[in-house]
Amino acid sequence: QTAEKAGYDHFMLKEIHEQPKAYRDTMGARINESDSRVILDEVRLTAEQLRRIQHIQIVACGTAYHAGLVGRQVMEQMVRVPTTVEVASEYRYRNPIINEHTLVIVVSQSGETADTLAALREAKRQGARVIAITNVVGSSAAREADDCIITWAGPEIAVASTKAYTTQLIVFYLLGMHFAQLMGTMDRSSIVEILKHMRQLPEQVQALLDQSERVRATAERLAEHEHLFYIGRGLDYAAAQEGSLKLKEISYIHSEAYAAGEMKHGTLALIEQGTPVIALATQTEVMEKTISNIIEVRARGAYVIGIAAQGNEELEKSVDEVFYIPRTLDLLTPALAIVPLQLLAYYAALARGNDVDKPRNLAKSVTVE
Ligand code: G6P
Repeated sequence: QTAEKAGYDHFMLKEIHEQPKAYRDTMGARINESDSRVILDEVRLTAEQLRRIQHIQIVACGTAYHAGLVGRQVMEQMVRVPTTVEVASEYRYRNPIINEHTLVIVVSQSGETADTLAALREAKRQGARVIAITNVVGSSAAREADDCIITWAGPEIAVASTKAYTTQLIVFYLLGMHFAQLMGTMDRSSIVEILKHMRQLPEQVQALLDQSERVRATAERLAEHEHLFYIGRGLDYAAAQEGSLKLKEISYIHSEAYAAGEMKHGTLALIEQGTPVIALATQTEVMEKTISNIIEVRARGAYVIGIAAQGNEELEKSVDEVFYIPRTLDLLTPALAIVPLQLLAYYAALARGNDVDKPRNLAKSVTVE
């Protein structure tokens, strides 16, 4: 391996710690400081073309698909165009409805994932406009899409994706606002407000990284379990899915992410005395509902680790332990909430003596369908 670990034990840890810089680089010149506007010149779609778009389909695999889950909410909220998100290996083979009114957004760190490229080609063949979000300049996805937005995360070596995921989120926020500027679907003041909070994200991520030792202690206890759950609603559910995947990939602990409100329809039967449940409760609109779901699992014996926004003391009363994340807008929360979950997966894998950077059976980029 020629790339340097810069003093870190693993590439994954190095890449987790590079996120403040990766956020800054990805936002970079795309935010015009003087008038608080988003500038995404690489997307050449005009306002007139955008107005003809009737649906947006986000297509990706693995972690990039999880970024798409956040992307869907961002697009619908900011641009008010119906948006779906689907894993590429399913999308491609179900004869999806694609036409010249479709905008397909493919998301791929490597830009080389076979299923994602197959979806991209099929979408183009059927007349869709295709935007690629990728981390690799000159990759197949970058070359073949109509427009390409690069995530400036820098090279990602560890198989488990971290900084590529979070910079994909940043790109979705920027793209949503860029479209909103073209379509007039958002007030100027809302855009100014979101950009103000986005500029704080790098420092806020750094503050989370500075608390790694506490996460480590919890991770070492979790490493002794064989099953655990992640629950959340809305964007917390999206982040829960990515957190759960991180844990599975490198610690080999079986975990499942569940929409908090759906637990009672079956999965609650799996909760036993001491089952760890990581409950994300950052979304203010559904806070009360999430808390009642936490009470439900705790009543069945679950040991609940809450993830909450700083100052949410109410949650503290209903969980066994809690990690606080700095205050931001609900929409931006996944870009912070995922950081302790990345660290949790990393330290649990480490405690189990696993090869963190090269987990068994997995590859960084999957070039077969
Ligand atoms: C592999 C990697 C995952 C990644 C997925 C999609 O399975 O192990 O970390 O999320 O491929 O990769 P892509 O390069 O398309 O984002």
